[in-house]
Amino acid sequence: MAILSNRRILFVARPENTPKSAHFTLSEPVEEINSETCLNEGEILVKTLFLSVDPYLIIPMGRKGVHPDVVPNQTPYPLKQFKNAATIANVGDVFGGRGVGHVVASKHDDYKVGDLVAADYKWQEYAIINVKSELTFEKLENEIFSQVSPSTALGVLGVSGSNALWGFNFVLPKDEKPIEGKTIVVSAAAGCIGLTVAQLAKNKGFRVVGIAGGEEKGEKLLSEFKLDAVVDYKKANGDLTLFSQLLKEAAPNGVDAFFDNVGGLVADAVYENLNLNARVYFCGAISQYGDGKSISTPEKYTNNPNVTSITCFQADYIDTIPQARRELFELIQKGQLKPVEWITNGIEQTPRVFEEMYAGRNFGKTLIQI
Ligand SMILES: NC(=O)c1ccc[n+]([C@@H]2O[C@H](COP(=O)([O-])OP(=O)(O)OC[C@H]3O[C@@H](n4cnc5c(N)ncnc54)[C@H](OP(=O)(O)O)[C@@H]3O)[C@@H](O)[C@H]2O)c1
Repeated sequence: MAILSNRRILFVARPENTPKSAHFTLSEPVEEINSETCLNEGEILVKTLFLSVDPYLIIPMGRKGVHPDVVPNQTPYPLKQFKNAATIANVGDVFGGRGVGHVVASKHDDYKVGDLVAADYKWQEYAIINVKSELTFEKLENEIFSQVSPSTALGVLGVSGSNALWGFNFVLPKDEKPIEGKTIVVSAAAGCIGLTVAQLAKNKGFRVVGIAGGEEKGEKLLSEFKLDAVVDYKKANGDLTLFSQLLKEAAPNGVDAFFDNVGGLVADAVYENLNLNARVYFCGAISQYGDGKSISTPEKYTNNPNVTSITCFQADYIDTIPQARRELFELIQKGQLKPVEWITNGIEQTPRVFEEMYAGRNFGKTLIQI
């Protein structure tokens, strides 16, 4: 009989603004799982390899402003695939998002010990998954994940990468003129999605302008990832005129495409530099998730007939994930896309890492290795 200790992260307090490590605690006493008796028919036991730390996890924390009413066990999003992730947590619940791991016991004919799987099973070292009811469950393709780290299934070869590719394809100019000479601006350019988009854009021949916080990130984006210019939004200190001027210097020919992960002042400053027929993808609005105001696509963009913009959500591109994964994997193999990961060891570090990701300390995909 094997008794396994399962350390888990519990949610203990709703945030005032951005997530802090004090909003979580390590579960005590540690849960014990008997690997020989814990499963019912149709279930598998998974040992975690990596856990994903994502900006959207502020939603299940029940922060006012991200959604109007904090109602535990409900989701503001009527989307089957997103239900687990976005359901508002009760204080005391096991918290977290997606993880990837190995099957260590199985009572399901289709899955055997050793299989690599991913699902939204929260921040814990082991997870019992009912395959049928876990809508985001996937068995990871051996032909891909025998060649790259399984951690990439949570980043560039997972939801983040698929979203990056979907949004990038949307903002690609639709006229006949060559991409060379056109400018794309990518915000949170040193983050998982931003860095993926920046690399896709360099491959296509765009002039790529990244927006990121701090000199260190900027230097790395210029030297290692060959971005053409970087704007440190922190230098603008909340001043729209100054920010807009800094962008003008970085994009002297104006902005043809904009992939936005940040919203707020960043979206306002880019708006002032847009060219005619610019295309814009609102992927996320991390600068607004903690400010208590509801998030909406900036109206001036949607009201401007000379700009084509879209906001999308996981459900819009979920069907594209397998194909996107193959395309992105090919780029990795050709050396045209580098998976960049910011990995910290130990489940107990997860709350601190979540707080630090919100403070911009990550470069690339934020992950916990177990
Ligand atoms: N539409 C969808 O289906 C979907 C799916 C996944 C993610 N998203 C969204 O995509 C965005 C990027 O996600 P990700 O997973 O790739 O995260 P990430 O970019 O790896 O990490 C978040 C980054 O946001 C930046 N940031 C934090 N607060 C900021 C602020 N107030 N102003 C400007 N920048 C700030 C920080 O970088 P700096 O150092 O540069 O500040 C931080 O590194 C998020 O908004 C997320 O919610 C959307």
